[in-house]
Amino acid sequence: MKKIAVLASGSGSNFQALAVAAQSGILKAEISLLVCDKPGAFAVDRAEMLGIPALVISPKGYPSKAAYEEEILQKLISLDIDMIVLAGYMRLIGPTLLNSYEGKIINIHPSLLPAFPGKDAIGQALAAGVDTTGVTIHYVDEGMDTGPIIASAAVRVAAGETRESLQKKIQRIEHSLYPEVLEELLNGKEEAVKWEKSVH
Ligand code: GRF
Repeated sequence: MKKIAVLASGSGSNFQALAVAAQSGILKAEISLLVCDKPGAFAVDRAEMLGIPALVISPKGYPSKAAYEEEILQKLISLDIDMIVLAGYMRLIGPTLLNSYEGKIINIHPSLLPAFPGKDAIGQALAAGVDTTGVTIHYVDEGMDTGPIIASAAVRVAAGETRESLQKKIQRIEHSLYPEVLEELLNGKEEAVKWEKSVH
């Protein structure tokens, strides 16, 4: 069974969705590790509740990004991790991890990329007044939300939509799409997941 490390900085609801899917057998992989760069983030509490080991590691304790990522890399190697899944990890991935896990790092972003990359994609979509936004899963490269797209799902922005209501809709999609797409990727069905979904 493939071993996955999830990297998260915040609430960790996507991490939990992946872990529950794996523990229930829907996702045939082991979520072996949570890596969290924010001590005190709720993702770490979720890891404890789910019985998944967590590496809580702040970049502040390291002289460089390379040194920080090297520490993470050594942990991933020691656990035989096959893939890295970003789930609300608020940092760019540097060459240390990118080179060692080339083509094996994916991310989920709450917009239809290439629209609204970077921080607060939901706020950006609301400010732009679009009637459709969504979720994108993509490979990670050195850019900010720029890697090749694997899958996306559209979400309608209803009249009178608030940030909270839109975030709820988007997260509901994320929690089913991420395990589903990861399962397809692990089965080598990359082409099969180049589809789009639509949610109203
Ligand atoms: C998600 O909306 C994801 O798309 C974005 O960050 C958010 C993380 O939420 N990259 P959570 O920590 O998984 O609840």
